[in-house]
Order: sequence, then C-alpha cells, then structure tokens
Amino acid sequence: MFEDWSNTLPPDPMRAYRAKKDAARRTVQSKYSILGFISSGTYGRVYKAKARGDPEDGLLYAIKKFKPDKEGEVVTYTGISQSAIREIALNREINHENVVALREVMLEDKSIYMVFDYAEHDFLQVIHHHSQTLRCNIQMAVLKSLIFQLLNGVLYLHTCHILHRDLKPANILITANGVVKIADLGLARLTYEPLQPLFAGDKVVVTIWYRAPELLMGAKHYNKAVDIWAVGCVLAELASLRPIFKGEEAKLDNKKNVPFQKDQLLKIFEILGTPEVSEWPGLKNMPEYQNMKRLDRFKDRLFDWCQQKLKSRDGYDFLRKLFSYDPDKRLTAREALDQKWFQEEPRPTRNAFISMKGQQLPPQRRITQDDASTTALPNAAPQVTQPNSGKAASAASFASVGIGGFAAPSGNVGSAAYGGTAAYGGMGMSRLGVGSGNGGESTSNRTAGGSSKKKARLG
Ligand SMILES: Nc1ncnc2c1ncn2[C@@H]1O[C@H](COP(=O)(O)OP(=O)(O)OP(=O)(O)O)[C@@H](O)[C@H]1O
Ligand SMILES: [Mg+2]
Repeated sequence: MFEDWSNTLPPDPMRAYRAKKDAARRTVQSKYSILGFISSGTYGRVYKAKARGDPEDGLLYAIKKFKPDKEGEVVTYTGISQSAIREIALNREINHENVVALREVMLEDKSIYMVFDYAEHDFLQVIHHHSQTLRCNIQMAVLKSLIFQLLNGVLYLHTCHILHRDLKPANILITANGVVKIADLGLARLTYEPLQPLFAGDKVVVTIWYRAPELLMGAKHYNKAVDIWAVGCVLAELASLRPIFKGEEAKLDNKKNVPFQKDQLLKIFEILGTPEVSEWPGLKNMPEYQNMKRLDRFKDRLFDWCQQKLKSRDGYDFLRKLFSYDPDKRLTAREALDQKWFQEEPRPTRNAFISMKGQQLPPQRRITQDDASTTALPNAAPQVTQPNSGKAASAASFASVGIGGFAAPSGNVGSAAYGGTAAYGGMGMSRLGVGSGNGGESTSNRTAGGSSKKKARLG
C-alpha cells in the first residue's frame, strides 16, 4: 500500500558528515596515556595523563571524565549534565594564570572528557602535609602567597562576572612551581544578565563549611561576596590547619525543603559573635531571622583567634573584613588584594613555595594504579579509599590503556608553566614580587584527598 521512498530520497548529508567526523575523531586513549587515577568527585573521575609521543618529562594533564548516566549496568545517554555544560562553557572563555586551563574537551563512548593542565598540589594537601607530616604551621610567606594568588584568580573570575560558588581547599590547586590554580567550575555561574535567577528555592550552593551567612540565613539574593567569605574560611584553615567553621549540615527533608542550618551558623557565631542588625541591616529581612533569634548568643572572639593563629594586627583586620557579616560591607577581591597585610613582610611571591626547602615541600599528588582487568566497567565500584578523603576510586574505565610503569617526573609541570612565556594574566599579579626557582622534588606520593564536606550542587 505504501510506496517505498527510501530509494528516491536524497542521502542524508548530516549522516555522511557525522560518519566522517566520527572516523576522524581521535579517542582519548589514542591521544593520551593515562598515568594513574587521581580522585573521584561528584561528577566524575580525574586521571593523570601525558600526551602520547611527548617526551618523558613532557607536559602533564588532568583528565576529568564525567560519569555517563547509568540504568543498572546499562550506560544510557540522556544528555549532558548542567554541571558539565557550565564547567565547559565557562572554562572555554577564560584564561588566567590563577585559574586552571582547560586544553580540550573530548566526547567518547557517551562520556565527556575535559583535559586540564595538571597541578601537582592543592590547598587541602598542603594543609594535610603540615598537620600530619610536618606537624607545624604553614610559613606565613607561603600562606600569604597562596591567598594572594587565590584572590587574584577570584578577581579575574569576578571581573568576568563569574561566581565560583564552591571555593574550598580541595578545589584550589597549586602547580609544582607554587602557582595557584582555581579549579572545579562545576558550580560556577555567570552573573551578568542571567537568564535564570541565581536563587532556586530548593538548591544549595557552596560546601557547608565555606557557606556565607547570607546563604545560611536563606537570602533570596546573593553575589560575589559569597566567594569572598569562602576565601576567608580558606585563609583561616591555612592558618590553623583545620576548618574554622566546621558545622554539621542539616539534611534536606523528604519534601526537599532547605533546612535551617543551625549548627553551621552556631559555629560561625561562636567565633565571630552573634550578628547585630546594627552591623547588618539586611539581617532582619532574612527568611531565617526568627530561627536565628532563638539561638544562644555569643561574643565576638575573632581577635583572640587571630592572636594565636595569624599573629598579626593587619592579618586580623584583613580576616575581619573578609568575614564581614553584611555582604555589602565585605571586601571585594580587588580591595582584598590592596590590604596592608600583603604589604607587610613577608610579602607574597609568585612561587608560593620559594621559601620551602626539601622535606617541607608537599609531596607529589598520589595516584593509584589499579589492576583494572577485574573492573572493566566504566563505573565500577570504588577500589581505593584514601584516609581523610570523602572520595574513593578506581582506574577501571581506563582498563584498556595498560596503566603501569609510571615514574613521576619531578617539577616538570611547573617548570614548563614557568618557561617565561606564560602570560601573567594582568589582574593585579604585577603587584607580586616575582620569585624564581622550582617547586622542588619530593619522594612520596600522597593524595590531595577530597573533601569530606557535603554539598548539594546546582542553583
Ligand atoms: N588540573 C588538575 N590537576 C591535578 N589534579 C586535579 C586537577 N583537577 C582536579 N584535580 C583533582 O581532582 C579532584 C576532583 O576534581 P574536581 O573538583 O574538578 O571534580 P568534582 O567532580 O567537581 O569533585 P568534587 O565534587 O569533589 O568537588 C580535585 O579535588 C583534585 O584533587
Ligand atoms: Mg571539586
């Protein structure tokens, strides 16, 4: 009854085009050799890699493989996660010395792979190295350099109208040559004329320990100041080697209502004192104001905290202004970079590790080499769990690349990045006293670890 049109229709030009593109597309494994597994995050797994054909001491990369959707054991393709889209879209547009560089994005087997420049360390690892191995504080010159460079990266993002919304030690990387690289833009958002409001009722941003008081108080509007609060928390954590506001996160109820984060607010109030409407006029309009008023009251003791941990009046002034309860009074990234604390000795250096010697230097990032032959499924069960890490992992999905025999070169990434050609991104870095030298070498590998901190992503 029906005529067969298939012979009369012109061939689909897109099909031919796609076939040609598919044939030409290089696979991840044909282009990169996987040296080991680094970490498993919320959205995927991160591997250390080297470009095939590059010399032994060539550049290193971190390849982030987004998890494909799975129904049982069957990998389905239901689309690309919002987090991946944001991370890719934003990363493609930005370029700054203190933000990790995305080199390319590859699509293979229903998974997305993002190829980043590799960074040997991160803030969490430096904190663990000092608290567990060296058992001493981070030198002030190192701490100041890390925070200065972090703020420099934050200034760049904010100037590009990007809120990071997940600044925390595990997401702030450092190259072997002591250059800070902000990573993980999975929660980041453009704030310039957004199509969607930033606030979405049931969505939470920023890992709880780093979450600004306006977010904890249920603010409907928030801005760049949430990143600056997180920088304050990171500075305090570097200074004391433990999170300053280590609260317990209240869970979403089964109606997905965002609960009152009582414990986290109390942890903040215990150090900064209970906020007053006189210092934060917007406080009384916050959705959680009535709940907050029922909490025990606390006195401000940040000065005492800083006397033990920062030992500097300018350091105290700085932290106080980063921890301003009123987001409108909190320092901007630019104002923060101009603070006196950075002009006081020791001054920040471009190589944050320049004053560290030998064993003081943090060890290389730990990678694992699973024998993946027994775990050939892309999302096989976690194989390795690191102490102090909320992350567990397997190198399973790269089973076929034949991992092994990896000898980690020392300092190669940093020295390449410091070849003198790296554009020093403007954005205030010119203020730094530029140091030289390399990040040095260390023998043991150790994972940067993930965070045990909880977060709900999106918004
Ligand atoms: N460029 C890189 N070089 C070296 N290690 C990296 C790099 N990028 C990420 N990592 C490591 O992988 C971890 C996870 O990466 P990332 O934060 O981007 O993923 P995620 O899925 O968003 O994780 P999470 O939800 O834990 O934040 C980082 O904390 C860091 O230890
Ligand atoms: Mg992360």
